[in-house]
Amino acid sequence: MLKRCDQVASWQKLNELKVTKVSLDLTKAFVNQANRFEHFSAEAPHVFVDLSKCMWDEEVEKALLELANETKVFSLRDALFKGDSINTTEGRSVMHWLLRTPKGAQIPAGLESTHAEVLTTLDAFLSFAEKVRSKDSITDVVNIGIGGSDLGPQMAIRALAEYVTPTKSFHFISNIDAHEITGVLDKLDPNKTLFLISSKSFTTIETMTNAQTAKQWFINGGGKNIDQHFVGLTSNVVLAKEFGIDTTFGFWDWVGGRYSMWSSIGLAIAIAIGAKAFKEFLQGAFEMDEHFKSAAPKDNLPLKLGLLDVWYRNFLNYKSRNIAPYHSALYRLPAYLQQLDMESNGKSVDKSAQGLSYGTASVLWGEPGTNGQHAFFQMLHQGTDVIPIEFIAVKTPSHSHTNHHELLLANALAQAQAFMVGDANVNKARYFSGNRPSLFTILERLTPTSLGALIALSEHRTFVAGAVWGINSFDQYGVELGKTLTLNIMKQYSNEEFTNLDPSTQGLLRRLR
Ligand code: F6P
Repeated sequence: MLKRCDQVASWQKLNELKVTKVSLDLTKAFVNQANRFEHFSAEAPHVFVDLSKCMWDEEVEKALLELANETKVFSLRDALFKGDSINTTEGRSVMHWLLRTPKGAQIPAGLESTHAEVLTTLDAFLSFAEKVRSKDSITDVVNIGIGGSDLGPQMAIRALAEYVTPTKSFHFISNIDAHEITGVLDKLDPNKTLFLISSKSFTTIETMTNAQTAKQWFINGGGKNIDQHFVGLTSNVVLAKEFGIDTTFGFWDWVGGRYSMWSSIGLAIAIAIGAKAFKEFLQGAFEMDEHFKSAAPKDNLPLKLGLLDVWYRNFLNYKSRNIAPYHSALYRLPAYLQQLDMESNGKSVDKSAQGLSYGTASVLWGEPGTNGQHAFFQMLHQGTDVIPIEFIAVKTPSHSHTNHHELLLANALAQAQAFMVGDANVNKARYFSGNRPSLFTILERLTPTSLGALIALSEHRTFVAGAVWGINSFDQYGVELGKTLTLNIMKQYSNEEFTNLDPSTQGLLRRLR
């Protein structure tokens, strides 16, 4: 019988360690351990991470690795990669990793035919992407989708701007707020626009409403051959057909929405960067999967990052983490990671539906550097809460302004240093306590391969923390209540008398309508 994390010996050990480690002096830790940087740096495919400015030491690391052992993280990892039904509440396996497993790789027994289907679908949507790329008649591609059907493709296309075809513009419509769709469509020509209706379920109200509005706009604007201008990306091909879409690319219920950009949901990415680069994107993620599967615990980067999250959240009581990409093309990365981590691990019951006595997902937020430095970094340096910062730097830029790039990197390094060393200024207003933890990620270049690796690393990190906490990281019932209540309000939007609405909601509705 698997013991819950708070019942195992290493959890108690970590509870003892936190008493002294909460005030670990980072600067002194480097003096005490000459090889601290080497010891706490970790290399995985295409990604290097320096964890030496994190608030931990070898004793903590050892106890965390024991925690992973006692909570059987690697058994769950093996179950993930075997295709077992680890999404217990929905009775599904979790196999987004299979979407990036290339032809010729070793496939777990029983999954060979599923993998063959994956490859056939991949070929089909990549050859469609190439066709669209070659068509001068299509100048604009509009992805209509929300959550995982928006954030992944949008983040990746913005991040890979250097690789995106200049012959087309890419637009994203997610919000039910029609300011968004009108703002996009007003500038487009229906006969030059391709709509990708991206929705795993093909029932999400925002996406369906936006898709209907786009269809009407297409017809009203004199659009011809609607079948050539609307494509459905979904695991519910039947509903897409009912909507009137002929061309659909499917995927499977074992792909969670927030893990879906490796599937046909990534079609916008494939059109933007081409089939070859899309395969490189998958390859980077695959290499990270292999690392997670086979690296020894002490060298396993997703494992270490997930354990660090547990240490910070449950023992040092840090409730938030800041993502600071020092590459402006990564500006949608924090939003992407928010869904990945907070929708996956924002849970308060374990897999047997027992309430938890410990915290789970922390609040994740961020903006690219150096912009954040001139906004909220004040609070990160001198505010009352300690918020760990995660720097992401790219060694080689895609421009030739060396002076800009050196300044950018110097800023990232200086900020990380400042968080640690502080400033013992006698003027209290200018005093920095320092000793604020950060971690520092380096990519050689921002390429499809390195982005794929970085995202897969984040997915597995989230998995590790969820595995320790004993929660199901793959459902998202927390989004359902609001959807139901919206429908109830919609039904009585114009009524004089309301049912099941509290007085505040009634008062607000009367004012708003
Ligand atoms: O409501 C949350 C959610 O289900 C996410 O998990 C998902 O990524 C998003 O909505 C969109 O869902 P779909 O792709 O089915 O439209």
